[in-house]
Amino acid sequence: MKGLILSGGKGTRLYPLTYTSAKQLIPVANKPVLFRVIEAIRDAEINDIGIVVGDTAEEIMKAVGKGNRWDVGITYIPQEQPLGLAHAVKISRDFLGDERFVMFLGDNVIQGGISPLIAQFAQSDWNSQIVLKQVAQPEQYGVAELDQDNRILRLIEKPKSPPSDLALVGIYMFDEHIHTAVNSIKPSWRGELEITDAIQWLVDQKYRVYPYVHSGWWIDTGRPGDMLEANSLVLEELTPLIEGYVDRDSEVDCRVTIQKGAEIINSVVRGPTIIGERTRIVNSYVGPFTSIYHDVTVEDSEIERSIILEHSVVRDIPARIQGSLIGRHVDLARSPIKPKAYKLTLGDHSQVGIL
Ligand code: DAU
Repeated sequence: MKGLILSGGKGTRLYPLTYTSAKQLIPVANKPVLFRVIEAIRDAEINDIGIVVGDTAEEIMKAVGKGNRWDVGITYIPQEQPLGLAHAVKISRDFLGDERFVMFLGDNVIQGGISPLIAQFAQSDWNSQIVLKQVAQPEQYGVAELDQDNRILRLIEKPKSPPSDLALVGIYMFDEHIHTAVNSIKPSWRGELEITDAIQWLVDQKYRVYPYVHSGWWIDTGRPGDMLEANSLVLEELTPLIEGYVDRDSEVDCRVTIQKGAEIINSVVRGPTIIGERTRIVNSYVGPFTSIYHDVTVEDSEIERSIILEHSVVRDIPARIQGSLIGRHVDLARSPIKPKAYKLTLGDHSQVGIL
C-alpha cells in the first residue's frame, strides 16, 4: 500500500499563524501535526508516501525532506490551487498507480495508530474504507448516514441539517476505483471536488465501502480552539522525560517533559506540559496542558493551557495567560516606557483578549 498526505490548502481559519507558514507544521505537544501523520503511516508499515503541497510547499519540503528521519521515501506532489480533496487524488494518479492507498489529511490528529485499520483494509476485498466519529457539530464536516446494518446510505459534505452525528474523519482507504470516481464528479457549491462526493459515487456504483466508527478521540486542527484541544489530548498521552536542567528552587511535577538544553529556573511547572529545547523558564509558573516550543523565554509570567511557538519571548506579564496560541518570534512584554498603554503590533486576523 501507499500513503497520501494532503498538506495543501490555505489554513485561513488559523490566520494569522498560517499567513506565512503551513498549518500542518504547527506543533502539538512540540511535534508538528504533519510529523505525527507521517509517523502514523510509517507505523502501519507503509514507507512510500506522497505529500500533496500547495503555497507552503517550500516550508513543508524543508521540514520533512526526503523522509530519511522516518525511514520512508517522500514524493512531493504540487497542487497549483486547493481545488478539493478529490482534486488532490486526481493529481496524484502517477504516484499512486493502481495500488491501494491510505489518504490522511495533514491537519488531523487521531488517538492511537491507524495500523489495525490499515491491516483490516489490506486483507479485505473492500474497495474503500472510511473512518467515522460521533461529533457534537456534524455540520462542520462530511457526514455519513448509515442504515440499521451499518451500511452507508448517504454521505454529504458540511450539510445544513445533518442526517446523523457521524463525521468523516480525515483518513480514507481506497483501491484503484477511486480514480474513476474522482473523474466522474462535479465541483460542489464551494467550488471544490469533494472526496465525500467521490465516495458517494463509489456507493452509488455498488462498490464496497466499509464505514469504521472510531471510538477514541480525533481532532481536525482547523481552528485555534481545536489546536489547544489536540495539544491537551496528546500531552496527556506523552511519557514524561526530563532531559533539560531544573534548578533546586524549581518545582516540576512528574507529568512534565523537559527537552534537551531547556532550563527551569526558580519556577513551578505542572504537567502534562512540555518545555522545548533551549527554552528558558525563569521566575514563572507554567500550568497544565501547555506546550512551549524551542528557543522560547518565559520570564516573570504565568501561563497555562496554551501553545507558544519557537523564538518567542513572554516577559513580566501581570496576568496569567490562558487558552492562548502564540506564534513564532512574538515579543510579549511589559514596557517601562510612558505613557502606560497597550502597544500592539498585531497581524491581520489577530485576536487579543484584554483584562
Ligand atoms: O477533517 C475532516 C474533514 O476534512 C472531513 O469531515 C470533510 O469531509 C473533508 O472535506 C475535510 O473538510 P475540511 O473543510 O476540514 O478540509 P480542509 O479544506 O481543511 O482540508 C483538509 C486538508 O487537506 C488540509 O490539510 C489541507 C489539505 N488540502 C485541502 C484542499 C481543499 C489539500 O491538500 N488540497 C486541497 O485542495
